[in-house]
Amino acid sequence: MTAVDYRESGAPTATLGPVSQASPSNTNSNDAWPRALAGKFLVFEGPDGSGKSTQMKRLTEACQAVGVQVTTVREPGGTSVGEQIRSVLLDPSSEMTLHCEMLLYMASRAQLVEETVRPALASGHLVIADRFLTSTFAYQGAGGGLLAEDIKAVGRVATLGLSPDLVLIYYVDVDTATARTRGVPATTGKKKSATAEALRGVTLFDDRIERRSDEFRRRVHESYLAQAKADPAHHELLDAKGNAEQVWDLTARALCARFTKP
Ligand code: TYD
Repeated sequence: MTAVDYRESGAPTATLGPVSQASPSNTNSNDAWPRALAGKFLVFEGPDGSGKSTQMKRLTEACQAVGVQVTTVREPGGTSVGEQIRSVLLDPSSEMTLHCEMLLYMASRAQLVEETVRPALASGHLVIADRFLTSTFAYQGAGGGLLAEDIKAVGRVATLGLSPDLVLIYYVDVDTATARTRGVPATTGKKKSATAEALRGVTLFDDRIERRSDEFRRRVHESYLAQAKADPAHHELLDAKGNAEQVWDLTARALCARFTKP
């Protein structure tokens, strides 16, 4: 187990050393917060380039190390039919309306919830989802212009009414996020300075979705902030601008504060 016990380490926002510096004396209490996540549903969210995938992997390892069974899923995708839907969404030649796009994300989600998420939670697994409904509000809602009430209505059907225990939002400013997705440092500029190879990627963002405008991205970023502000009980807004170790430190502190009793 590599994480420190954040309850004994000062206020949640204090700066700590790397989590790997935990002393052996607090090993047992270190186990408390990952153990407390068994049976919970966590969603990792953030604009493209937020670095959330690295944090998901780290949390998965921390929980498995203390015997918590973890099911990780990604959206769109995560099931056989969901992966087929993903490839339709990924295909740069897929011409579709915004409503069609939203419904495809929701169709993938419906299959995922019923086939994987619900059964895993019922078995006491921690379920970690790479994106969920928050993304649809951010991208197709704020970004694309679909009505939030429409997304909410379809979302209620797609999720079977299931909502996460906590949505972790990894937030970075637009310029940093854009630079990260293109493999160039924020200070050295944007698309034109990156190599063609760096621009070709394996994510949806790098394919069809990458073509979206800066204005679209700005609205997506703002939506993440607004969603976190509107419902702080179910959203944790994390500053994802630091390195992976610093962001993991924030992640572990937040989860410890939320899921273990003081
Ligand atoms: P992906 O390649 O999975 O990358 P990552 O999640 O690591 O950023 O890309 C997923 C893309 O799909 C991302 O640009 C956000 C978008 N998306 C939506 O537009 N709406 C949704 O409901 C979901 C789940 C994702």
